[in-house]
Amino acid sequence: MASKLNLVGFTEEYVMDIPEIDDQHKTFFDLLDKINDVAPDLYKPLNDDEVDDIVDVINELRDYALFHFRTEEAYMQEIDYPDLGKQKKEHNRFITDVIRMEAELMNGSSMPAIKVRNFMHDWYRGHIMNEDKPFGEFYKKNSK
Ligand SMILES: [Fe+2]
Ligand SMILES: [Fe+2]
Repeated sequence: MASKLNLVGFTEEYVMDIPEIDDQHKTFFDLLDKINDVAPDLYKPLNDDEVDDIVDVINELRDYALFHFRTEEAYMQEIDYPDLGKQKKEHNRFITDVIRMEAELMNGSSMPAIKVRNFMHDWYRGHIMNEDKPFGEFYKKNSK
C-alpha cells in the first residue's frame, strides 16, 4: 500500500454558509483524491498509462467545476452581485488553464501528478478565499 500523504482537502475556513455551494466546494476537494488514486507516487513523472487515467480525472474535475460555476453564478445573478462579471472571468480562465494542462499532458510533456493536484487545489483555495467568500458576505446581507 502506498504511503498516504497528508494532503489538505476542504477546511472550515472555506465555509460560506450557503449549503449548496459549500457542499459543491467540499465535493471538489474530495474529487481531488482521485488524482492520487490513479498516481499514488505523486512526485514521479507520469507514464503513458497514468497520463490517460489522469486526463480522465481532470475531465471529471473540469465537468464538476463547470457545473459548480453555473450554480454559483445563478446565485449571484439572483441578487445582482456586482462582481458577477469578475467571477465569470475567473471561472472561465480556470477552465481554459485546465484545458491547456490537459493538452500539455497529451502532447507528452512529462509532469508529476502533484503538479496537477497543486494547480487544482491552489486555484480553488485562492478563488474561494478571495472571490467566493466575499460573495458569501454579500449574499448574507442581500438575500431574502
Ligand atoms: Fe467562484
Ligand atoms: Fe466556488
